[in-house]
Amino acid sequence: MKFFVDTAEIAEIADLAATGLLDGVTTNPSLIAKSGRDFIEVTKEICGLTDGPVSAEVVALDHEGMMREAEILRKIADNVCIKVPLTIDGLKTCKALTGDGSMVNVTLCFSANQALLAAKAGATFVSPFVGRHDDNGFDGMDLIRDIRLIYDNYAFGTEILVASIRHGVHILESAKIGADVITAPPAVIKGLFKHVLTDKGIEGFLADWAKTGQSIG
Ligand code: E4P
Repeated sequence: MKFFVDTAEIAEIADLAATGLLDGVTTNPSLIAKSGRDFIEVTKEICGLTDGPVSAEVVALDHEGMMREAEILRKIADNVCIKVPLTIDGLKTCKALTGDGSMVNVTLCFSANQALLAAKAGATFVSPFVGRHDDNGFDGMDLIRDIRLIYDNYAFGTEILVASIRHGVHILESAKIGADVITAPPAVIKGLFKHVLTDKGIEGFLADWAKTGQSIG
């Protein structure tokens, strides 16, 4: 399962990229606004921190406008992945861009039928938002299960990119279901490294090691 980080904060991305475990980055207009940075400039910088796909989202709502924006975005770097919303115009744009060799991430997916349409439009990634689904009284992970089943039934190549992740259980469930990718905030990814028994174990080993009076090297 690939790990993408969902942020436009350069320091956070660089920190995770240094672990060697980062496979890509997702951004959205809200994350760009939060960073306070120029969209094109920060996207270019992010693309230099990872070889993996970096999702940059269009803001036009019509097909022609989306195509115009995508033209600008895909010139930023070879690893830019154009993010489009799951609308008729978004999927029309997805079909045109993937047909032309660009990566496309279809975002704001909230139903398995929408995911089916994204796959038929040739999406590279589909982003079902599990956290926002949970927030509205549904089970986000059920959505991922349904999409996995449908994509496997028809051997669709579209990768399921689980988005709007709030905690480690979303990631664990995604892995059990067989999602292709997760994207999560930096703090959620960093939280996966932690376990109280790991910390306690290190503490105990170091205390015993000190008693030996030895050093390595
Ligand atoms: C996905 O690509 C989105 O950027 C993101 O996961 C949205 O998450 P949120 O619901 O926490 O805003």
